[in-house]
Amino acid sequence: MLHMLHLLAVLSASDMPLSGLRAFPSAGATVAAHAAAARALDRVCYPKDGMWSAAQFEEEIRSPRTAALGAWTVGDSGDEALVGMCFTSTVLDEASLTSLAVHPRLRRRGIGEALVCESMARAQAAGAAHFLLEVRSGNEAALRLYGRCGLTVAGRRPRYYRDGEDALLLSASLPAEVGGASPMRRAGGCLSEGARGVERALSNK
Ligand SMILES: CC(C)(COP(=O)(O)OP(=O)(O)OC[C@H]1O[C@@H](n2cnc3c(N)ncnc32)[C@H](O)[C@@H]1OP(=O)(O)O)[C@@H](O)C(=O)NCCC(=O)NCCS
Repeated sequence: MLHMLHLLAVLSASDMPLSGLRAFPSAGATVAAHAAAARALDRVCYPKDGMWSAAQFEEEIRSPRTAALGAWTVGDSGDEALVGMCFTSTVLDEASLTSLAVHPRLRRRGIGEALVCESMARAQAAGAAHFLLEVRSGNEAALRLYGRCGLTVAGRRPRYYRDGEDALLLSASLPAEVGGASPMRRAGGCLSEGARGVERALSNK
């Protein structure tokens, strides 16, 4: 919740009204439309035609294992546009971030960080103990963001991607919930460690 308040404060300082972060509806008539919006954002954010098809997004949105969080802006007519998204898949006590994207026109406003922090807090609240992801070793923007969210480098997968780039495996422990509010939420943000490890990864890439 604090991440959302932070995000609203950041964006209210700009002229882009944001309706906040919220989970995609996981059932009902609007799932296909949300999957199409996610696919459109994915294509804008990833070169070479995006990461997932609309059908894959729809499958993820409907999956009980997946937490799909979106950031929407609101136009004058009340129409909403998806401008950021973070998908997390949880198996047992491990939550894995599988997709993160913010529209190029709205970057460096804290949307990505808010999405990741909120996804971590929700995973923790749902009982996950570990938060994991893979990222291209040369993706400096994402690496810096993840470092701010408390993720540290746990390993490297050489030539993991088709074009030969290495993947870095990043992870964070999610401390157990205490007294109804997660330690992350009570602290008002992401875990504070991690930036140094990610800085090292950036200098070694
Ligand atoms: C990575 C991405 C999600 C960041 O979204 P964002 O909303 O711009 O990120 P934020 O504004 O929350 O940035 C938080 C911090 O991350 C770091 N960061 C973000 N973008 C950066 C950039 N281009 N260069 C260097 N640092 C960057 C900064 O430390 C930033 O804080 P600051 O703005 O106060 O310096 C966005 O660039 C994106 O969609 N990229 C394409 C898809 C992608 O690579 N996804 C990750 C796959 S693992």
